[in-house]
Amino acid sequence: GLFEPHDLMYELDRNRETDPSLQDMVEVAIKILRKNPNGFFLLVEGGRIDHGHHEGKAKQALHEAVEMDKAIGIAGMMTSERDTLTVVTADHSHVFTFGGYTPRGNPLFGMAPMLSDVDNKPFTSILYGNGPGYKVINGERENVSNIDIHYNNYLAQSAVPLRQETHGGEDVAVFAKGPMAHLLHGVHEQNYIPHVMAYAACIGQNKEHCKTHYPLSCSASTVLATLSTLVLLLLF
Ligand SMILES: *[C@@H]1O[C@H](CO)[C@@H](O)[C@H](O)[C@H]1NC(C)=O
Repeated sequence: GLFEPHDLMYELDRNRETDPSLQDMVEVAIKILRKNPNGFFLLVEGGRIDHGHHEGKAKQALHEAVEMDKAIGIAGMMTSERDTLTVVTADHSHVFTFGGYTPRGNPLFGMAPMLSDVDNKPFTSILYGNGPGYKVINGERENVSNIDIHYNNYLAQSAVPLRQETHGGEDVAVFAKGPMAHLLHGVHEQNYIPHVMAYAACIGQNKEHCKTHYPLSCSASTVLATLSTLVLLLLF
């Protein structure tokens, strides 16, 4: 289904009457794909997490991440770890930070519990290394005390002005459950991940393990028949 001429709306702005959530789309996709007795491969992209960060809108980005979490949840409820490999990962990070010694219970989009010891002004615990949130007023960093920092499109402050905030360079997480999930642990090059998925799905040249390693839970005639590979790609 195509529900918008361009990107879908952010989850916070979504028209709940006309546009489905990511969770809704994952549910329908699995309902359709699981009818195939040969299994399926599903790629789910939480693609607007990335857009929220590029726009410096941390609240939009993080609510998209919550929606991705819900999509992972429904996928987990609709599939079995016995026959479905689920991989959740990201293709990159962003120059997004969270800090300032916030105590437990501090609002996520709120202030750090301290003032800058250089300009004596408060700062939000969420900040960006670069992006559209850069703001200098009369030669000084904006005093965010009087600003509504909780509205959906608030631009968290950034150190360098850029119209579009950039991707980050650190390692990203990869999580897996189901058959062959043990092959994803520790630190891996990104190009290793598709090989694990192919191996788990008994695709490609190395299929010897498929004859012995997969217990069948139903009466399918071949070992390959019940293997489903579900991939959830988390785009940070
Ligand atoms: C920042 O704004 C608050 C609220 O108006 C004010 O009390 C505080 O003195 C300001 N801080 C600086 C360093 O100007």
